[in-house]
Amino acid sequence: MDESRTRRRLMLLGGAMFLAALAAVGAAALAVNIFERKQEARNPFYRVVELTDTTEDPAIWGKNFPLQYDDYKRTVDMTRTKYGGSDGVPRAPTAKDPRTVTAQSRLEEDPRLKTFWSGYAFAVDFREERGHAYMLEDQTFTERQEVTKQPGTCMHCHASLYVPYKKLGDGDLIKGFEKMNQMPYAEARKLVEHPVTCIDCHDPSTLQLRVTRPGFLEGIRALKANQGIQNYDVNAQATRQEMRTYVCGQCHVEYYFKGPEKRLTYPWANGIKIENILTYYTENPHKDWTHAETGAPVLKAQHPEFEMYNQGIHARSGVACADCHMPYKREGALKISDHHVQSPLLNVNRACQTCHNWTEAELTQRVYTIQDRTFELRNRAMDAVVALIGDMKAARAAGKTDADLKTAMELQRRAQFMVDFVEAENSMGFHAPEEAARILGIAMDMARQGQLAVRQADYTPNLFPSTTPTVKPTEREVTPPPPGSATGGSGANPH
Ligand code: HEC
Ligand code: HEC
Ligand code: HEC
Ligand code: HEC
Ligand code: HEC
Repeated sequence: MDESRTRRRLMLLGGAMFLAALAAVGAAALAVNIFERKQEARNPFYRVVELTDTTEDPAIWGKNFPLQYDDYKRTVDMTRTKYGGSDGVPRAPTAKDPRTVTAQSRLEEDPRLKTFWSGYAFAVDFREERGHAYMLEDQTFTERQEVTKQPGTCMHCHASLYVPYKKLGDGDLIKGFEKMNQMPYAEARKLVEHPVTCIDCHDPSTLQLRVTRPGFLEGIRALKANQGIQNYDVNAQATRQEMRTYVCGQCHVEYYFKGPEKRLTYPWANGIKIENILTYYTENPHKDWTHAETGAPVLKAQHPEFEMYNQGIHARSGVACADCHMPYKREGALKISDHHVQSPLLNVNRACQTCHNWTEAELTQRVYTIQDRTFELRNRAMDAVVALIGDMKAARAAGKTDADLKTAMELQRRAQFMVDFVEAENSMGFHAPEEAARILGIAMDMARQGQLAVRQADYTPNLFPSTTPTVKPTEREVTPPPPGSATGGSGANPH
């Protein structure tokens, strides 16, 4: 074998080995890549920055989670639906209030609300709610701030507070909460910077959902104790699906400020149905204000989304707030939760059609049908309360005293709170249609009974529990339906 041939063969062999090695490296790289992608789908983030328990700025979280951050920023969007969504109304900025856009005034939409809230700050300024991005500025600049000296407690649901509370309480969340509650609003305002952010709902190291709001930590503990579960710790004991509702229940609830410490309290110690809440306010005597036209010690309900939703079919079926308001979406290989929290009617495809085999038009129509019916009842119930207020005002003018109007005042307090409970709930009945109708029906009855009580000082009201002897349904033996047919024809196909 001559030397040149040998050299050529060696070179060929070397080349082949090199190519084989290259291929092997390539294959390995591909395997690594596939592995990484699988990992990515499961645990979709690259740790670009280290997040700690003091990282408040969502832009920093956004470096690790750009997709969630992009959607989160879209809560500035304003789109109207028939009864919800949000719309921007242009306004001329002033030195006091630099906003160039606000939400629609509900008082202008429905002046009866002014009669409802006569003598209370809400009769001065009350608007449609809009996206999370606006929560801090809308609270800072509402005219309600000028009518009443608002406390630092207000901040609880309008800002990112986990870090400020901890700082203020020297590491103790509850201490910080207690301190801020007692500050004047303007002082507390200086301690916060962002609207609700990532750290308010997520643990920075595990990304798990968590409740950070003392109002909910304490409220749910009281509620569970009422159900026989003592010392409930929501962050340790709730299921993942429950947490997908509880993080929203931190703020979308009825509340009041308890005692001179202005402790934010969710009135759930007797349960979360409206009767339970009204009983709570009787047992723990509380009024939000004295009605200017009737002298009654009245209450105002605020956004009881959590409470109403809990009376509805979706809660009963284990569907969470996040299922409809933060539905899953695909971004390439990733499945993420839509952090653009908004009206599900702007997103029916992902919010509803994952579970319901109805068309988008059909689903929207079903919602509107529920809302139209609720709206009609709400209007009649509001008229009834306004009529009662009118009668009481006239009776006062004619010289009737507190003693004469005692029963009428109690009926006003209840009827008004019940109408408000549906009115202030932001789904116009959708979260629990039958419950909304039931509440409005009782409210109408109470308002009309109030009118009777104005005319007749010894009138005996039918409050609740109802004093009407209930006619019991005849108990019949019911044949259970054959297996598999229990869900009937709703078309729901929950995953
Ligand atoms: C089955 C789906 C579903 C669930 C679950 C659900 N919602 Fe809703 N929600 C809706 C629909 C539909 C509306 C009506 C939207 C509209 O009128 O534009 C609505 C309206 C709202 C609104 C007013 C939105 C707006 O744009 O005016 C808020 C706030 C809200 N829900 C919060 C919650 C909270 C908090 C929970 C859980 C406690 C919850 N929702 C559970 C479907 C749902
Ligand atoms: C328990 C949580 C919570 C507390 C405490 C709270 N808010 Fe809110 N606030 C909300 C939620 C949820 C909304 C959006 C739903 C709505 O407007 O019905 C809202 C909406 C608002 C809005 C916009 C709509 C409107 O009413 O004009 C203003 C302004 C506001 N709050 C001011 C205040 C002030 C002032 C305080 C203190 C007296 C306060 N909030 C305390 C949860 C809270
Ligand atoms: C820290 C308190 C807080 C938490 C937590 C919170 N919200 Fe809100 N939410 C608010 C406030 C306050 C507003 C009204 C802001 C405004 O009007 O300026 C609001 C507004 C909304 C709106 C109206 C959006 C629009 O475009 O009109 C929806 C829908 C909503 N929230 C749903 C949810 C859901 C679902 C969750 C849980 C995933 C949640 N919120 C968690 C306080 C909160
Ligand atoms: C009002 C509460 C709330 C806020 C504020 C919030 N998230 Fe979430 N986030 C959720 C919910 C609910 C889920 C669904 C979790 C689940 O199903 O276990 C979620 C899921 C996630 C996930 C897991 C992957 C996914 O998309 O399902 C990431 C990552 C995430 N959020 C990042 C962020 C970042 C970054 C921010 C701030 C820019 C943020 N979140 C703000 C409620 C919130
Ligand atoms: C995670 C699954 C899930 C999502 C998301 C969901 N639903 Fe449902 N829905 C259910 C279940 C379960 C029921 C209970 C009825 C049943 O089991 O058939 C139900 C019941 C209903 C009903 C009452 C049907 C009846 O026959 O009484 C309506 C209306 C409805 N859903 C509308 C909606 C709308 C609108 C949306 C989106 C905003 C939505 N749902 C989102 C699972 C879901």
